Formats: sequence, C-alpha cells, structure tokens
Amino acid sequence: MPKLTFLSHAAFLLESDSATILIDPFLSGNPLATVKPEEVACDYILLTHGHGDHIGDTVTIAKRNNATVIANYEIATWCGKQGITVHPMHIGGAHEFPFGRVKLTIAHHGSGYETDDGMIYMGNPAGALITTADKTIYHAGDTALFLDMKLIGEMNRIHLALLPIGDNFTMGIDDAVKAVDFLNPKLAIPMHYKTFDLIDVNPQEFVRKTQAIGKEAQVLAVGGQLEF
Ligand code: NI
Ligand code: MN
Repeated sequence: MPKLTFLSHAAFLLESDSATILIDPFLSGNPLATVKPEEVACDYILLTHGHGDHIGDTVTIAKRNNATVIANYEIATWCGKQGITVHPMHIGGAHEFPFGRVKLTIAHHGSGYETDDGMIYMGNPAGALITTADKTIYHAGDTALFLDMKLIGEMNRIHLALLPIGDNFTMGIDDAVKAVDFLNPKLAIPMHYKTFDLIDVNPQEFVRKTQAIGKEAQVLAVGGQLEF
C-alpha cells in the first residue's frame, strides 16, 4: 500500500513499492518542518511550481540522492543546469514512470523563482495527478479555485486530494471546500497553512465544512502518515 507522509506546508513524501517521491520539499527555513533536508531519502522529486517555498531544498536533496526531478519544462531546464537529473513535462501531459503515472494539471498561481540577481521565469504553475498501485493522488500545488477541478474529478477516481487552504496566496477554506465538491476525492487533506502569519488558518474548520457537504477530510499533523 502506498504511504504518504506530511512534511508540512506543501511538502509530502509518497512511498510506493517501487519508489519514493518527494513533493515540493521546502524544509530549510520552514518553521514547521521537523525533517532536515539531509535526512530525506528519495528517488524522485516532483515540483509543482517555481516559488521558493516549493523548490525549497530540491537541489541539495536531488544531488545527494541522485534523484530525478519531475517538473515543468522551465523548472526542469533550470534544475538540469544545476547538474540534476530531470524529467521535463508540461501541463496536460502524462508520463508512465517506473512507480506509476504522473499528469500535470493546471493551477492558477505564479511560478517565479526569487534569486539575488532577480526573478527567474519558471513557467506556469501546475498541480499533479500521481497514480501508483491503482491509487490516485491529486496534489493541487498552489492555486485558486477553478471550475476545471470538476473535470479533473470526473475523469479521475481520486483517492487523496491535497489542497491548499491558507488563503492570501491560494484558495482559502471555503474555496477549498468547493474544490472538494468538484474533485470528489475519497479523502481531502489540507496543506499550505500556518507556515507563515499570512496563511494562519485553522485546518479543523476545513474538515468541519468539508464534512458538512458530505465529504471526508482529515488533518495530517506534521510527520503524520497515511496508508491508502
Ligand atoms: Ni506558490
Ligand atoms: Mn506556496
């Protein structure tokens, strides 16, 4: 059975029988993270967009683990220039990896990467559908609510939906509850909250409001794990 561990913010570790996939590994400088970049072992790193709180420790973790970075073309090209093995994709495209299938979906957000020399263009932000062992996880990335989530829900049997709820930069709680309605997952898990003052919302409110529309949601504590 695949196992998902919440590393805080939008960072998750997904362990399948054949591979470990790290998603949006923002650990250094993340006040909620309890795992250090040097403690993470993985085969792949999946990035939703170019913001620093998602690329995070990708370069050091990828190099130490000789992991392959899966991301949009622009991020993959930049990672390739850092000496990392990459698999470029883009929105709407899917690929069969040894562990399963990844499809990038739209997300309404930004994707610039801030450096001392200015902002680097990192393409369009994405979400990802990851299917392993016949279970599909939807990591929405950072996004506003959008009606196409209804289409994503119609075309995929989603087991876990990982949805940002922190407001200000992404969907807030009420929009995320509407996203659950559109996506119809077996279980929704909130992410991208409490890390910064601007996104300090109560995830239990998301759970309560999701259950009020007849859907299931669960808060994963930092370090919390779920087999599904
Ligand atoms: Ni972002
Ligand atoms: Mn973010």
